[in-house]
Amino acid sequence: MALPPVIAAAFAKQAEFCRKLGAPLTAAVCEAAVLACDGTSDTGRALIAWPGEPMADALMMRFTGGCNALVRAGRAPELAALYPPAPMPDATDLAAALRTLLADPARDAQLAGWLTGPPQTNEVARSGVLMPGLMTITAATGLPVRLFELGCSAGLNLNLDRFGYDLGGLRTGDPASPVQLAPVWTGPLPHAAAVTVLSRRGTDINPLDVSDAVVRERLMAFVWPEQLERVARAEAAIALAQANLPPIDGADAADWVQAHVAPQAGSVAVVLHSIAYQYFPPATKAGIAAHLAAQPASADAPLAWLRFEMDDAAEAHLPTLRLTLWQGGPPTERLLARAHPHGTFLEWFA
Ligand SMILES: C[S@@+](CC[C@H](N)C(=O)[O-])C[C@H]1O[C@@H](n2cnc3c(N)ncnc32)[C@H](O)[C@@H]1O
Repeated sequence: MALPPVIAAAFAKQAEFCRKLGAPLTAAVCEAAVLACDGTSDTGRALIAWPGEPMADALMMRFTGGCNALVRAGRAPELAALYPPAPMPDATDLAAALRTLLADPARDAQLAGWLTGPPQTNEVARSGVLMPGLMTITAATGLPVRLFELGCSAGLNLNLDRFGYDLGGLRTGDPASPVQLAPVWTGPLPHAAAVTVLSRRGTDINPLDVSDAVVRERLMAFVWPEQLERVARAEAAIALAQANLPPIDGADAADWVQAHVAPQAGSVAVVLHSIAYQYFPPATKAGIAAHLAAQPASADAPLAWLRFEMDDAAEAHLPTLRLTLWQGGPPTERLLARAHPHGTFLEWFA
């Protein structure tokens, strides 16, 4: 029995999406899945009987992440022969390799296991969008920052001041950092203000601890393997986080904001998040906004809300970087940038 049309169509749609985002190998793996998966394997049977909505469940990313994990662990030599640094294969070659893998009950069971949990990522290049936002906040307040990240995943972006940046030719951060970010830049340069991070802390409903090797490998499995720069960047940021583990709590973003975020004289409290807000339940979104608006911010104890999110992406296709700044009196609202969701390029407005 082949995959039902609704599942096959979701794999085809994901393939299209991956190609648009510069992941042609992952796209071909999605197409190969449709050719290779049927009722003869555990993995195929799990896909055939999928009870949920494949796109909403990120089913295809579970599958491609599982394949990547097996390749990275040396458990899928037939697939590895077609993954980087090999030249780009076609879907039929990948399907043949997948059929061999799925015919092995132990490896089939491993791949099927990857379908049971949702993917979780932490995109380091989003720091290239958030950092110029922090520079704007520093320029506006003249104060060091206390960072509070919501939906921080493994907390890799909480180390953003430990990365190096080329922002449209303006260099900032640590030039010797193993993580260097240079988003393709259009628009004016950001404020050349040096950001000082006084403290950092994050929360995630499912925090990932990169001191755990299994967690690290799982995080890497969801980085598209043909995007070699991204793979290298994620590995470097994970290594950096192992040496500089930011404190991360496992709490709902609203509960945590209410417990931790308050203005303090002599620093600016910055609540920041990237591609996370869309996953927060409505009550969480409302709780965050209400708490921030109720804080007694002032010029000496300001509060900033910096968010790189998909707010109006349905119209504009790209997420925005927005800033709300409370320095006493009504807040100022600014649209700072629009950028690629992975931080590859950015149009700066401010
Ligand atoms: C797409 S990931 C983005 C992670 C990270 N911000 C980044 O840019 O790489 C969204 C994150 O939001 C977290 N999340 C979802 N609902 C949450 C909630 N109610 N409170 C805190 N975190 C939540 C998820 O666990 C996940 O790590």
